[in-house]
Amino acid sequence: MDTHKVAIPSLLKKKKEKKKISVLTAYDYPMARLMDEAGIDILLIGDSLGMVVLGYENTLPVTMEEMLPHVKAVSRATRRALVIADMPFMSYQAGIGEAVRNAGRMIQEGGADGVKIEGGLVALEQIAAVVRAGIPVMGHIGLTPQSINLLGGYRVQGKTREEAVRIVKEASALEKAGVFSIVLECIPGNLAGIITDRLLIPTIGIGAGPSCDGQVLVSHDMLGMFSGFTPRHTKKFVDLNPIVKEAFQRYRSEVEEGLFPGGPQSFTMDEQVAREIENLLNERS
Ligand code: KIV
Repeated sequence: MDTHKVAIPSLLKKKKEKKKISVLTAYDYPMARLMDEAGIDILLIGDSLGMVVLGYENTLPVTMEEMLPHVKAVSRATRRALVIADMPFMSYQAGIGEAVRNAGRMIQEGGADGVKIEGGLVALEQIAAVVRAGIPVMGHIGLTPQSINLLGGYRVQGKTREEAVRIVKEASALEKAGVFSIVLECIPGNLAGIITDRLLIPTIGIGAGPSCDGQVLVSHDMLGMFSGFTPRHTKKFVDLNPIVKEAFQRYRSEVEEGLFPGGPQSFTMDEQVAREIENLLNERS
């Protein structure tokens, strides 16, 4: 594993050399450390935070103030990976000034190396302005969860000729606007392949097939943290849910049965001192 800090030129080089880029979402210090040590190239503090950490139904309620502590924790944990902070809903949509200011906060306060902004043509002016401010931007097109009310749900995008052409145009426009890579979410794999071949910058797929230059997964999904529905595009690399639950149950029963803490987890003071304290307390009462 290359131990040098991942930088944008090294990602472009990886694309040229046809080496795949690994990306995972990270939300806290211990997990970010593990991912960094495992050699993951990019740690993304996704606004999926709202769903997998904060328990919201979708990503729309997530604010800058909720994102920033997590961006700081991941940045503190990371030595090698590139740290990218997701711009939450309404942190950039209202205008260029707000977009640049909030992207700046992710860098200046959060310690991130760059930001991710959802949306193609609709977000183009803001994206170009953030890039002009010297902040690396990762684009995100296809299924864009912040527009779920417009899209009518979490469905695969780009299946019709009209949608596919729009997505191809958006990818080129984003590249021209200066983004350093683009997340392609839930689009047909062959469409992702066409886009990947046309661009000089790397594409990062999630539900977009194997032709992308890299892949991203929501870490809680790939770790199997939830027992319910798992999206089709995800893969559980481990199923932690039953393992963690079993540990909690074992802890509860050991506490209830007085088995925990045992000797190895307890501290004792000198017997003589204990007796003196007891005598002292008896004299006082
Ligand atoms: O918020 C997020 O986790 C994301 C990834 C799924 C790309 O945007």
